[in-house]
Amino acid sequence: MKILAVETSCDETCAAVVEGTTILSNVVHSQIDLHKEFGGVVPSIARRAHEERINLIIDKAIQDSRFMIQDIDAVAVTAGPGLAIALEVGIRHAKELAKKLDKPLIAVNHIEGHVLSVLAENDQYPISNIQFPALALVVSGGHTELIYVEKIGKYKIVARTMDDALGEALDKAARMLGLGYPGGAELEKRAALGDAKKYSLPLPMARSKTLAFSYSGLKTAMFRLIDELRIMNYELSEQQVNDLAAGFQWRAFEHLLRITRATLNAQPTMPKNLLVGGGVAANAKLREDIKKLSDEVGGQVWFPKKGMYGDNAAMIGIAAGFKAQRGEFADPEMIDRLPRWRIDEEMI
Ligand code: KG4
Ligand code: ZN
Repeated sequence: MKILAVETSCDETCAAVVEGTTILSNVVHSQIDLHKEFGGVVPSIARRAHEERINLIIDKAIQDSRFMIQDIDAVAVTAGPGLAIALEVGIRHAKELAKKLDKPLIAVNHIEGHVLSVLAENDQYPISNIQFPALALVVSGGHTELIYVEKIGKYKIVARTMDDALGEALDKAARMLGLGYPGGAELEKRAALGDAKKYSLPLPMARSKTLAFSYSGLKTAMFRLIDELRIMNYELSEQQVNDLAAGFQWRAFEHLLRITRATLNAQPTMPKNLLVGGGVAANAKLREDIKKLSDEVGGQVWFPKKGMYGDNAAMIGIAAGFKAQRGEFADPEMIDRLPRWRIDEEMI
């Protein structure tokens, strides 16, 4: 079944053609240059940029797949979670396309896309090696969630962030250090040159047994520390920036790992695999740290292949393929944006 998938939940305009877990094309157009000067995604700018590009991106996805639009068997689209007015653009175009082609429509949860992104043409191990139940860790600019995956299509959120998402926290720390937006990747580069233990930053929720993430305390501590250092010498030196980046990243990842480990151990049935997805998983240091959990899961830790960490439509198409197998199609008259749709909630 060839699925054309559309994704416009945030600031990337994406379309892809997939067949099962094979990617026939995957086009991602990032709007980051439009949002940079605002230090975050501006919904109205995102909506307009999606609107301007979406037809071109869909055409390119079809063209790259080497198939014709008539060869498409179903149209999939992200219905949520995400920015309401951005989601709306993809949904409207997907609906129109499904109607024009007289093909079924599949509404996909964006987080399910990240969870299943590890399945995309993964040559790490044969896909059949993935055993369930599994635990999925989604770490992006908008989400930090641990999801118990009983099987594909059956999910339960078991831990989430109480305040900032990990990517959001890294972006804010990068901003405090003058590293631009979004700063996660730049922070990683600078952290590699720094001494993580040079300054004292707290481990979030160190004494708490709650299975949840929190980054606001660490962020405040970083802000205060930078303030103190600036009183002593107005401009931070390059080495100070490196050390602060390393310290922040270390504590942020240490917290992520501690909660992930505790959550793994708290499950009634030990998850056999850990599936990791989302933009922050592009961080090589994080992947190295997470691999250390493989003994605990008694199986493998899975990462998406390169280029599949961040938002893309191929992961939406893959999730849609499994939904189609289960006969879960959307009623085009009913489908609407669901900005807060949880992966463990039925579509309402
Ligand atoms: O999944 P994604 O592309 O979009 C969302 O759905 O949010 O994730 C974007 C986030 C941003 O916060 C960005 O700074 C972070 O992923 N990110 C990284 C790296 N590359 C992207 N964070 C840490 N290290 C990286 N190498
Ligand atoms: Zn995402």
